[in-house]
Amino acid sequence: MLSKRSSHKRPRFFLHPGYVLTVVILCFAAYCVVVPGTLPPSKRSSKGILDQKSKSTFKLKSIYRHGVGVNHRWHQRLEMTPELISKAGTLYQETAVQMQGDEGSEPLWTNNAEYATSNPFDVEFALGKVPLTLKRMKQRDPDYMEAYISGETYMSEAEAHAMWIDDDVVAPNITDRDTVISLALMSSNAYVRIPQTGDWRNVTQPWNETEPEDFGWDGDGIRGHVFYNEVENIVVLSIKGTSAQGLPGSGEDETTGNDKVNDNLLFSCCCARVSYLWTTVCDCYVKSYTCDESCLEKELMRKDRFYSTMIDIYKGVLEEYPDAAIWVTGHSLGGALASLLGRTFGLPAVAFESPGELLASKRLHLPFPPGLPSYMEGIWHFGHNADPIFMGTCNGASSSCSLAGYAMETACHTGRVCIYDVVNDKGWRVNMFNHRIHKVIDEVLLGYDQAAKCVEPEPCVDCYNWDFIPSRDRKSSSRLVTKTRSSAKPTATTRTTTTTSSSTCVGRNWLGFCTKYDL
Ligand SMILES: *[C@@H]1O[C@H](CO)[C@@H](O)[C@H](O)[C@H]1NC(C)=O
Ligand SMILES: *[C@@H]1O[C@H](CO)[C@@H](O)[C@H](O)[C@H]1NC(C)=O
Ligand SMILES: *[C@@H]1O[C@H](CO)[C@@H](O)[C@H](O)[C@H]1NC(C)=O
Repeated sequence: MLSKRSSHKRPRFFLHPGYVLTVVILCFAAYCVVVPGTLPPSKRSSKGILDQKSKSTFKLKSIYRHGVGVNHRWHQRLEMTPELISKAGTLYQETAVQMQGDEGSEPLWTNNAEYATSNPFDVEFALGKVPLTLKRMKQRDPDYMEAYISGETYMSEAEAHAMWIDDDVVAPNITDRDTVISLALMSSNAYVRIPQTGDWRNVTQPWNETEPEDFGWDGDGIRGHVFYNEVENIVVLSIKGTSAQGLPGSGEDETTGNDKVNDNLLFSCCCARVSYLWTTVCDCYVKSYTCDESCLEKELMRKDRFYSTMIDIYKGVLEEYPDAAIWVTGHSLGGALASLLGRTFGLPAVAFESPGELLASKRLHLPFPPGLPSYMEGIWHFGHNADPIFMGTCNGASSSCSLAGYAMETACHTGRVCIYDVVNDKGWRVNMFNHRIHKVIDEVLLGYDQAAKCVEPEPCVDCYNWDFIPSRDRKSSSRLVTKTRSSAKPTATTRTTTTTSSSTCVGRNWLGFCTKYDL
């Protein structure tokens, strides 16, 4: 822990003028000598956010934004230049002044004096690292994984098992409180506004359409903030789904349609058909508590939905940093997407207050290692038990979530859960306001002396009262079910049907792999 220095309100990771002056470059004729100055003030902890000695810090390098829905062809990147960082800092300070005294508005960053900053885009984060043996797929480049998930890859059982390797990787030290707080701040950084600028570059050429207004920003879409540690060659990709901030209780106006559609698609039992009054987000509802599973799967994988969009962003990051280790993080929907991305490509992922994403992981047929689902995984879900979205109690016709048009019905997480018991420790009541990232940072992550312990989640089933039928229209659902992978379960038979087969999957094991076909 850092000692508070009341005489000095600057945060410890804000570059103190003292640091700047301690490196003096002396030039005599043609020779320049760099004279290292004194060390930072002695009170600074070496494991703090600013790791001055090794310079082994993560800095924001670029931001991706990707449209969804009709704008899904738009994918752009913005490089963080010194001018932009300085402009963004000015905008941040202006907004902060405007928001002062604005009752009920969420702080833009954190109120904690230790972690406050005058420019969130200039912060250098130091993250603790630990070696981790991660069970992941041997082959996991985007092309391969896309084929795998769409079911275009098939393999024998032995091959399927051989796909999984124990990889020694470096992962964030999630037992370290400072590291967890830093990752949460990186997740919250994805919410902070940046100035309107024309410097966005097209990652993919968006054909001949005119640029939509503010996609991936105030409007629909996904943003990815790329932090890079050049000393250790590690990238942290922080994912933001716009809806998280617009959830009920965030104090902001309603979000746009696509976010709600995607949230309801990912975290509801059946296209958010909560009652006959609801406009469903997809057409998979068959009849009372009966839903078409292959229809749901097809909907989730659509190119204009969040999952596919996020993979596009990941591809962009891979192109930028081909040899780097990549970690992912995010809050709420961003956290759930981080977890889905981590599972797809075998990346360490740290999510904050994310809704249950086990159901979506299965519907997307993401790879689960053979054995226990959370065995040797690098996925961690931090959250507290007074957040209805994290706990999966954000449902029921009269809940505040439903009233705002959200059907977040899932509760089950994959990987490990790290839960702060604020209900008992602090007497909190379950409330949507407790979902906000800054409330979580200021009062939970900073409010405890230690990071929550991460454990395997209790056995958990979502949507148990629903009946998911393989397909109500078998001919039209061939895309998802005709191709085969072997099951990772030793007892399952391996099928090798061809892509043109019209067979339909009528049974899946818990890994989501098809085990029974109706030819
Ligand atoms: C991880 O963090 C904990 C808590 O700060 C610390 O005790 C431990 O030594 C760290 N592990 C490594 C490998 O640095
Ligand atoms: C991105 O693509 C759009 C549509 O083709 C085009 O209008 C715009 O100028 C491009 N932006 C840049 C920076 O090239
Ligand atoms: C491109 O232009 C054509 C012809 O004007 C139009 O029909 C089409 O909708 C436009 N957009 C795309 C994505 O092709």
